[in-house]
Amino acid sequence: MDSKVIRAKFLEFFNSKSHKIVPSAPIVVQNDPTLMFTNAGMNQFKDYFLGNKTPEANRVADTQKCLRVSGKHNDLEEVGLDTYHHTMFEMLGNWSFGDYFKKEAIEWAWEFLTEVCELPADRMYATVFEGDASEGLESDEEARSYWKGLIPEERILNGNKKDNFWEMGDTGPCGPCSEIHIDLRPDEDVAKQSGKELVNQDHPQVVEIWNLVFMQFNRLADGSLKNLPAQHVDTGMGFERLAMAVQKKQSNYDTDVFQPTIKAIAAKAGVTYGNDEKIDIAIRVISDHIRAISFTIADGQLPGNAKAGYVIRRILRRAVRYGYTFLDFKEPFLTELVPLLADQFKEVFPELDAQKSFVAKVIREEEVAFLRTLDKGLKRFETIKAETEGKVIDGKVVFELYDTYGFPLDLTSLIARENGLSINENEFKEEMAKQKERSKSAAQQSTGDWIVIQEAELPVFLGYEHLVSQSKITRYRGVKQRNKSFYQIVLDQTPFYAESGGQVGDTGVLVNGDDKVAIFDTKKENDLIVHYANELPKNIEAEFTAQVNVTKRLLTENNHSATHLLHAALREVLGDHVQQKGSLVNEKALRFDFSHFAKVTDEELAKIESIVNKKIRENIKLEEKRNVPIEDAKSMGAMALFGEKYGEFVRVITFDKAYSVELCGGTHVPATGQIGLLKITSESSVAAGVRRIEAITADKAEAYVDEELTLLNEIKELLKSPKDPKKAIEALIEEKNQLQKKIDELNQQQGSALKTDLMKSTQEVNGISLITQVVNVPDANVLKQLSFELKNEVPNLLAVLAANLNEKPMLSVIMDDKLVQEHGLNAGEMVRAMAKEIQGGGGGQPFYATAGGKDVAGLAKALEVGKQLLEDKLNIEIK
Ligand code: ALA
Repeated sequence: MDSKVIRAKFLEFFNSKSHKIVPSAPIVVQNDPTLMFTNAGMNQFKDYFLGNKTPEANRVADTQKCLRVSGKHNDLEEVGLDTYHHTMFEMLGNWSFGDYFKKEAIEWAWEFLTEVCELPADRMYATVFEGDASEGLESDEEARSYWKGLIPEERILNGNKKDNFWEMGDTGPCGPCSEIHIDLRPDEDVAKQSGKELVNQDHPQVVEIWNLVFMQFNRLADGSLKNLPAQHVDTGMGFERLAMAVQKKQSNYDTDVFQPTIKAIAAKAGVTYGNDEKIDIAIRVISDHIRAISFTIADGQLPGNAKAGYVIRRILRRAVRYGYTFLDFKEPFLTELVPLLADQFKEVFPELDAQKSFVAKVIREEEVAFLRTLDKGLKRFETIKAETEGKVIDGKVVFELYDTYGFPLDLTSLIARENGLSINENEFKEEMAKQKERSKSAAQQSTGDWIVIQEAELPVFLGYEHLVSQSKITRYRGVKQRNKSFYQIVLDQTPFYAESGGQVGDTGVLVNGDDKVAIFDTKKENDLIVHYANELPKNIEAEFTAQVNVTKRLLTENNHSATHLLHAALREVLGDHVQQKGSLVNEKALRFDFSHFAKVTDEELAKIESIVNKKIRENIKLEEKRNVPIEDAKSMGAMALFGEKYGEFVRVITFDKAYSVELCGGTHVPATGQIGLLKITSESSVAAGVRRIEAITADKAEAYVDEELTLLNEIKELLKSPKDPKKAIEALIEEKNQLQKKIDELNQQQGSALKTDLMKSTQEVNGISLITQVVNVPDANVLKQLSFELKNEVPNLLAVLAANLNEKPMLSVIMDDKLVQEHGLNAGEMVRAMAKEIQGGGGGQPFYATAGGKDVAGLAKALEVGKQLLEDKLNIEIK
């Protein structure tokens, strides 16, 4: 019987027992938070068991697509390594919803296997639940009694809760079960050892084929069991295992379920299945996984980054890697198997045939994406393996493989096992959690999905040699930020340098006839070179001239190469402890941060600048080496840059191998002479132990020097001293100091003469010595000094002075402290009132206050206001 016949016989058999034949439910589960994929035939009937819904028929049968790759039922790790577990498999099942129970379930199963399938009765065993005291469950004597009527007692075996109490998940319907196992070994093996001893012992030829579950309980979330409202039957038979038994094969993969796929894979790889275990495992894995992937996609679940989508992606990547490593498949190959499967299953699962081109395309894209990073990732694994001390791989590097190379955790774990290693899963999970945090805070912008214009390999970067190229757009997407939106464009090949290693991204233009789009930035996203534009070209599918802004690029290169020269000079002058800590290189300037613990002195800076300029004048030619193994680069004396990740192969930039050798992906001048000149513009501290030098080169440096020289010339002219302006300035300073001294003396004399005059003008009113005068004084200091001297020398003083300081008005009110208390006078209030007359304002303390202003003509009036205030306040008359 071929497998189609076996499947049909099963359905016919139960149809003859009054079962309604129903179609398989989708393999992808919707609306059940406890389940991502259908993992048993009964999933779609869960609510009938629980009594939440009434079935249309109380007897049904079907073949159900199941996937056991996550959650409680997960066989992924066994698949391919053994010959009888699968990710996706068909489960043949018959159900009774509150109708027949153990007797019929057991007798019909036996009838179907022995009479319809003609399997040898003496090679089959039945297990029954032995009971479980901790759950308060008794042994299933009822099932045992029915079996006793069918087979000799020695082939009825007891099973524990693990094997003979079936549960759908952590919660849900469950009950004791009775399994049928078959011994498919050759007679001579059977003669040597009874199959009885091999039941449930993971023997590839002594396998469970059918599980009869007697649904009686609901497992609640608190762990307790609750009786179901009715008793049900739920059976599940492994279709592929049944085919193996009926077709008398040693392995599920030898049946006609898998053989067509296996043959196709082997033919493509140019190998024969069955000769080499490693190759056989790979072929089995692929022939299994392609089914899981294809049927799941056909049922609506696309591969993705999370949840069910990621489960599919993981399975797919696992298959790709098996093909890549063991069958030398370097190009997409899974996609080619889809039509074969679609055809094979079109009668029973027509959904795949109906969507086969779509499914094949989705798989192809996934394969292309993973094949891009797989090789690098596998090489990275080799270095990780070499660096791993002990047997456990660091969770951080497992995360690196995940994040950078797209290796799912289970794939890395598998490769580790192949190499006798294990992985630190907890550490990996911590890294995952950290990344989630990071992406939360980065989620300021919303990025659309890529719109693919044409399938393409990774973009080719031409920008080391060319600044123009003929390019086509391979994909683009829109990006929305708070206030703006723009587009990201990927080209098949591009001369645009994407921002990295401190060097800014290129700007430029995409041109197709009149259609011109400005590129305002270029950045990297993984291995994509992404061009930023505010608009899209009109004809997205056209060929474009991609033109880099040459001026900006060349100026940037000057600064980048100068940074290398500066780095080397810093080490020469300050010492080998100098390490790059960061840099920024654009068309305007360069910024270089480095470890050093003291301020770089002016003499050191001069020396550094002079070394760099000497290297510029030497016009040293650029030596660029690509794809240098990291070890070779190290032996060339390359200085690794800080904080950058490098693959195994690096680019080495040398300007005089005795002077500057660095790992660098940036663009550089063909020879140092192009830099022209370097001028350091500042030296500062950015963090503990990190200094920053900013510098300019080429015409910027020249312009800077020019400006300084122009200024110097102007100074010389002013000084009328073209030869020695410094001496002339020193002479001026000396002269100025002498003059200042003289002025001070004169002021003093003038001040004391004025003081004498003022003291003479004192009026005595009600015990107050009153001075109110408009005075001429040279500056505010003299006025203040005069005020305080008067206060010290005249008892009970109250002086209101309106001063003309070289045509600037100023007011001063000072009084004996006693007057403040006794008469409630306030100098501040007084000056503020007076200051209005000079268009000014001021304030101070109650005993002393001053005010400045604009109108010197108002001084006399201000003084009158002051006098009036005093007359009113003190009830006196001032002359
Ligand atoms: N629901 C049972 C199983 O999946 C039949 O094994």
